[in-house]
Amino acid sequence: MRLENISPKKNRNIKLSNQIDMKRIPEHVAIIMDGNGRWASKRGFPRSYGHNQGVNVLKEIIKVSKNLGCKVLTVYAFSTENWSRPNKEVDFLINLFEKVLKKEIDEIHQESIKIKFIGDILPFSKNLKSVLNSSEALTRNNKSFTLNVCVNYGGRQEIVKVAQEIAKKSVSGEIKPSEVNEELINSELLTQGVKDPDLLIRTSGEKRISNFLLWQLAYSEIYISEVLWPDFDESEFFKAIIDYQSRNRRFGGIESLANDSLKDSCCST
Ligand code: FPP
Repeated sequence: MRLENISPKKNRNIKLSNQIDMKRIPEHVAIIMDGNGRWASKRGFPRSYGHNQGVNVLKEIIKVSKNLGCKVLTVYAFSTENWSRPNKEVDFLINLFEKVLKKEIDEIHQESIKIKFIGDILPFSKNLKSVLNSSEALTRNNKSFTLNVCVNYGGRQEIVKVAQEIAKKSVSGEIKPSEVNEELINSELLTQGVKDPDLLIRTSGEKRISNFLLWQLAYSEIYISEVLWPDFDESEFFKAIIDYQSRNRRFGGIESLANDSLKDSCCST
């Protein structure tokens, strides 16, 4: 294809993708998809319009992250605090989850994506619970990519539940208090078996983690995008990855774990 026939957007994406080191793709990316309401209000539309647009963006980012080689994407779709929104918006969001899942689940399955819902689904309607459970069951053995959707999820609530479970085991004599360690806590979390996120992206410029994966994000790199979620796209995702790759992940140590040659030369005897 002649270069002048490539759209400016495509051209920009090619330039950005050329800056990505394919050997250092984050395995697990978590996203706080923020700004749907503001995006819609700015355009004079109801907030629901922003949520609808947000679904299209989520579909694009699933494809982009999977094609790039990420293995797990975890998105914050509905927090335990979101119940405090007007009933109309809560109902809209809950209906949207059901509608989108019913429509997209076959394609998700064909793409060999495993979908998991993280959070307390008990308060949802019988219909939605059944769609969530059947989607998980259908895609359970898919291997190429995992999509975790956090619904009615709160990090503090998750930690409280873990503490309750561990207290029960301690009272029954199953474990001793001295046996409580990070491994045990990890095994009781809703994310059990999932590697902690390498990268957290939050859109809309807000610099908070809003009760999202409080335990799991301990050493994640955080990238704040100024773009509202409905405007987030492949190029914004690439920018987050390029920024992530510029970080020196020390995990509390003094040098990059990625820089093995440096580690060997300074630490080997
Ligand atoms: C935050 O924007 C967004 C949400 C609370 C909902 C996100 C949900 C989706 C994108 C749909 C996902 C669908 C499926 C099936 C997983 P906001 O409403 O807080 O925006 P604001 O900060 O501008 O008010």
